Amino acid sequence: MNVLSQLRRARKALISAGAAVALAAGLQAGIPASSQAATSQPCDIYASGGTPCVAAHSTTRALYASYNGPLYQVRRSSDNTTRDIGVLSAGGVADAAAQDSFCSGTTCVITVIYDQSGRGNNLTQAPGGGAAGGPDNLANATAAPTTVGGHKAYGVYVAPGTGYRNNHTNGIATGDQPEGMYAIFDGTHYNGGCCFDYGNAETSSNDTGNGHMEAIYFGNIKVWGYGAGNGPWIMADLENGLFSGVNQHYNANDPTINYRYTTAIIKGEPNHWAIRGGNAQSGGLSTFYNGVRPNVSGYNPMHKEGAIILGIGGDNSKGAAGTFYEGVMTSGYPSDSTESAVQANITAAGYATSSGGGGTGGTLTPGSSVSLRATTACCTDRYIRHQNDQAVTSVINSSSSSLDKNDATWIVHSGLASSSCVSFESKNYPGDYLRHQNFQVYRQTNDGSAQFAADATFCPQSGKNGQGVSLASYNYPDRFIRHYNNTVYVASNGGSHTFDSSTSWTDDVSWIVDAPWA
Ligand code: AHR
Ligand code: AHR
Ligand code: AHR
Repeated sequence: MNVLSQLRRARKALISAGAAVALAAGLQAGIPASSQAATSQPCDIYASGGTPCVAAHSTTRALYASYNGPLYQVRRSSDNTTRDIGVLSAGGVADAAAQDSFCSGTTCVITVIYDQSGRGNNLTQAPGGGAAGGPDNLANATAAPTTVGGHKAYGVYVAPGTGYRNNHTNGIATGDQPEGMYAIFDGTHYNGGCCFDYGNAETSSNDTGNGHMEAIYFGNIKVWGYGAGNGPWIMADLENGLFSGVNQHYNANDPTINYRYTTAIIKGEPNHWAIRGGNAQSGGLSTFYNGVRPNVSGYNPMHKEGAIILGIGGDNSKGAAGTFYEGVMTSGYPSDSTESAVQANITAAGYATSSGGGGTGGTLTPGSSVSLRATTACCTDRYIRHQNDQAVTSVINSSSSSLDKNDATWIVHSGLASSSCVSFESKNYPGDYLRHQNFQVYRQTNDGSAQFAADATFCPQSGKNGQGVSLASYNYPDRFIRHYNNTVYVASNGGSHTFDSSTSWTDDVSWIVDAPWA
């Protein structure tokens, strides 16, 4: 089975569960269900799989259900004082408001990313190394805003020159000992510099030879290995080589992967390692490599040293860019099923681009008027409007006629069938709403029936492609408002209708909530 169909199957299996969560959460427009009540966070899951975390780093959320300590520390430029940023509640999301208030009117950098595992494996400013002097730059604390479960948080934005490290760790694999690791990256922020890594590296900050590292690499450098397409790729930085599979250079099974939120996994044990990845917003993981150590000398057995790096190469090469939200390292080689459970936790956590003022769209607040803009590359100038009573997309801009602007404007209401969801009333045909019928979407008069209410109710969740919102049909929860040939439907991913086509489905069902045209 190819990677896409694997992803599709996994996604299909999870879609109805996800929609049910969204309905139950009483969410207000575009805000995915919160993970705050989770009883098992990633490191609880790894522990029950027999491969406990020995390092757990995140600026966005707790990685243990019971973790109630600091996630990271920021330092402000106005007076060089520091402040620890904790969680909103045990096991919960970062208290970004504490950072916003501390950094108000000045600038802040991230000085420490605390280790939640209790082993003290904190990440701090990387020192100079064999490839480049130091200390490296610290990340701007506000450069990677996100939301997690509807709560604002900040990731670690690595511009070239930025790097974190710990050369004196506790419990991290050395030699040929087994370990696993995952990280969540912004799949759209990368470059071809060496080397945006998270994982195991040399304790001397020098290149001490093949097999002295085992870290996740993310980006599109082709100096060493590379995979299919133009990148970015998830590869293993094993020192003097980024590996996309068993071969030193090209491995066709390692795909370009660029989800806005990408889950990346590397794991290794004696003469065995794997590359895995997926969409951190939905669906499962795919395996891109699972086999013996590279067919190049020096990598079997491995000579891991047990330092931890973020954003740089083993020798402090610091030409790379990327964004990190969370990641862990384990003791022992995690099973695929443990990692699947971690991925399910990640997708349920609800990573989404920040809404409201972030340039990625606003929220669907009942009473407000909005226009809904397509996000597919073809069509980012097109909005949902009614025309001859059908819902279609049209190019709308400031020179459009007043009729077109009115047709493309919708008044948000609490959902006619559920107050956890929303309905869209036409601006220029009061009393008419967007509703589906035979899975096509129309503007029709509310006849007061339960059928109309259900057909006219849509449940927002974070956009399937990482942008804006996706709007699930209330009575067909695996169907989402989608444009297809510029006509609007409620479509499932890979269903039986032509308009259910999987091609560009995630883009076609993702909508930016824009200010109203009328
Ligand atoms: O393996 C790729 C890079 O090569 C390592 O990160 C670095 O230490 C060396 O320059
Ligand atoms: O959808 C009804 C009307 O049909 C729209 O207002 C107009 O654009 C079209 O003629
Ligand atoms: O759009 C699918 C269904 O088709 C609607 O629920 C119903 O109104 C029509 O029969």
